[in-house]
Amino acid sequence: MILIFEGIDGSGKTTQIKLLSKELRKRKIKYYLTKEPKEPLRSVILKNKFHPLVYFFLFNADRARNFLQIRKYLKKKYWILIDRSFPSTFAYQWALGGLDKVIDKKLLLKINKISTFSLYPDKVFIFDLPAEIAYSRLKKENIFEDKSLNYFKKLRKVYLKLSKIFKWHVIDSSKSKEEVFEEVKKILKLC
Ligand code: TYD
Repeated sequence: MILIFEGIDGSGKTTQIKLLSKELRKRKIKYYLTKEPKEPLRSVILKNKFHPLVYFFLFNADRARNFLQIRKYLKKKYWILIDRSFPSTFAYQWALGGLDKVIDKKLLLKINKISTFSLYPDKVFIFDLPAEIAYSRLKKENIFEDKSLNYFKKLRKVYLKLSKIFKWHVIDSSKSKEEVFEEVKKILKLC
């Protein structure tokens, strides 16, 4: 089982990942929790300003490292929980970062398949809430979060559009964290 957790910054996905981890431990289900980008590339990516194409390759390089590790845990029958992955690249770099002018959708998907070793997630959760709420929660720790409210509105729109195309699960995360988690459990049939 591969699960990807996504959403605009401040959408509450990290809280949901924590709740699910706890639930899995309770059920004695082994899981591997990871996030993208992760070290050592994380510091390079988040602390510098690059052209969208350069970001794209850096995120994909980071993803390939991550998925090499994921493959090992999958063989051991672990559940895989990923805090952001390729849906972020589709939203941030491709749709909003201007990469769509350099790489077409077909090629984007092909490169993604290579970086993920053809592993496709069982579920992608998009934690969705009004941009204003997400924006007000931000700590602005990296340059990706140093954006305007308008940018967040666009980002939300992009996530919702992509969710329709790829059939990702959109969850209303303006509800309480308990209610949101019930929804997650329902989708995973953990009720
Ligand atoms: P992070 O501190 O992990 O943010 P969050 O807790 O919201 O996940 O920072 C990751 C940032 O990198 C986030 O703003 C989204 C961005 N990002 C991309 O632009 N493309 C990607 O492919 C990924 C994985 C993340």
